[in-house]
Amino acid sequence: MKKFLDLISEEMKNAFEAAGFDRELGKVTPSNRPDLCEYQCNGAMAAAKLYKKAPIMIANQVVEGCKDSEVFSQIEAVNPGFLNLKIKETFIKDYLGQMCKEVKFGLELPEKPSRIIVDYGGPNVAKPLHVGHLRSGVIGESIKRIARYAGHDVIGDIHLGDWGLQMGLIITELKERQPNLVYFDDDYMGDYPKEAPFSISELEEIYPTASGKSKEDPAYKECALEATFKLQSGVRGYRALWNHIMEVSVADLKRNYENLNIDFDLWKGESDVHDMIPGMVDYLKKEGYAYLSDGALVVDVKEETDTKEIPPCMILKSDGASLYNTTDLATIMDRMKAYHPDRMIYLTDKRQDLYFEQVFRCAKKAKMVTPDTELLHIGFGTMNGKDGKPFKTREGGVMRLEMLINEINEEMYRKITENRQVDEQEARDTAKVVALSAIKYGDLSNQASKDYIFDMDKFTSFEGNTGPYILYTIVRIKSILNKVKEQKGLGTEELCKAGELLRNAGSEAEKSLMLSLSGFNAMMETAYVETAPHKVCAYIYELANAFNRFYHETKIVTEENQEKKNSYLALLLLTRDVLETCIDVLGFSAPERM
Ligand code: ARG
Repeated sequence: MKKFLDLISEEMKNAFEAAGFDRELGKVTPSNRPDLCEYQCNGAMAAAKLYKKAPIMIANQVVEGCKDSEVFSQIEAVNPGFLNLKIKETFIKDYLGQMCKEVKFGLELPEKPSRIIVDYGGPNVAKPLHVGHLRSGVIGESIKRIARYAGHDVIGDIHLGDWGLQMGLIITELKERQPNLVYFDDDYMGDYPKEAPFSISELEEIYPTASGKSKEDPAYKECALEATFKLQSGVRGYRALWNHIMEVSVADLKRNYENLNIDFDLWKGESDVHDMIPGMVDYLKKEGYAYLSDGALVVDVKEETDTKEIPPCMILKSDGASLYNTTDLATIMDRMKAYHPDRMIYLTDKRQDLYFEQVFRCAKKAKMVTPDTELLHIGFGTMNGKDGKPFKTREGGVMRLEMLINEINEEMYRKITENRQVDEQEARDTAKVVALSAIKYGDLSNQASKDYIFDMDKFTSFEGNTGPYILYTIVRIKSILNKVKEQKGLGTEELCKAGELLRNAGSEAEKSLMLSLSGFNAMMETAYVETAPHKVCAYIYELANAFNRFYHETKIVTEENQEKKNSYLALLLLTRDVLETCIDVLGFSAPERM
């Protein structure tokens, strides 16, 4: 279905052409002066230069030829030459009626869907998730869902950090504590126990202990490096321990991500491409892309047009060990082979901008991807505390994600139960749903690349540009629809029928709600093209405001004129469905009541 703005631009372009001007001048944009008009066209200003005529004269000519438009109820030329536009109620009503009938409210789907891999989350095995992982998970999940909604074939991959020194450190510390474990017996040939010799909480304590020790004690560090090497070269007992670490840690990660309503199609990690590294290294050497520099194997990636220094991409360290780059490059090769993606999108902190620039250039230069494969890194800003510094616990330590979520759940529970008698379990469940909207909307409503301040009071507020406000609006609509259902009114589930019940807007508030709804497909398309979940947030905030204004000015349930009432209900149904679709692509949902 064509976009609303394109349709009205089309009408304006016809008018320019009819008046003897270039039709491309007739581009319409939303109004800068909502007090005067709904849309505007500045084409006469541009035409003035081309046709050497006063803009107001051109504007008047265009108006003259547009008198009996089916689209505009008002088209007014104002000094110095703007065209102020208002849309005919019937035109909007028909558009919304169509929206109700179409799949995905008339969003145009691609003829040939792109295959897209979104690489996000990126937690490190055996380390607790901290707030830094929150943004990658939240933004990545939303980008994945937006792309999927836009009709593409999208695969989400968690890309676990499961292969480096951290694994060697854990194994070393385990050996110190339990040297008699069968895993460390080189002569042991039997099966290894099924149960891991540690729990997740032990694991999470072991890692920081080991990491601390290795910084102070060079001999300990040496042991950890050796353990890493033994693991990577396939020593049986070490591999068995690694499997335990993975099992325990991944189970915990799954629980954490599930609480965040984040889910991955692939739970692959750095370890999965380990066996591809030697082949990749050979290839890079043989084709002459890689060369030795101070003992390390590197690929030059600088380009003539660079304005800043782009250092070579390092493939192997001088001791032959692989690096973060190595696994990322091998993963690209692996993905190309297994999935033939058209695009790969990576979500990490923006401090990795340069790193990904190097990796992508190397992959392109060494023809690890086809020339038309798009590699995109979305670097996001930091989540700060109210003091403007990276978010910490009250004691100043690193905030674990789980703690943060618990805190916000508690706060939401407090708000929901304040001065009210509610069922304990229901209140707990609702608090969780609403808290998730607070966290996710608080993050996603900002442009990803910017830092933002995690402000608990603001994010959990039921008023203003927040997740809870959006949910509150949806719940309000649901409750009206439920009330009417009890009165045996309209069958409120059938959006498609609702389209036929719509009538022309009877008030300014109703009209602006309708206009807001008409922008859905254009907004979703932009959110996909620009990988910009914040556009979805901005849209639903505007839509929720438009709805609430309409709600406050209109008696809906008590409306006596049945046709009018049905039309209101149809509008409510469409608003609810559009809002719920939007929050779903943002990665949260609304409760039935709150
Ligand atoms: N594990 C990494 C970290 O915690 C993030 C991984 C991001 N993804 C990637 N393909 N490099 O910093």
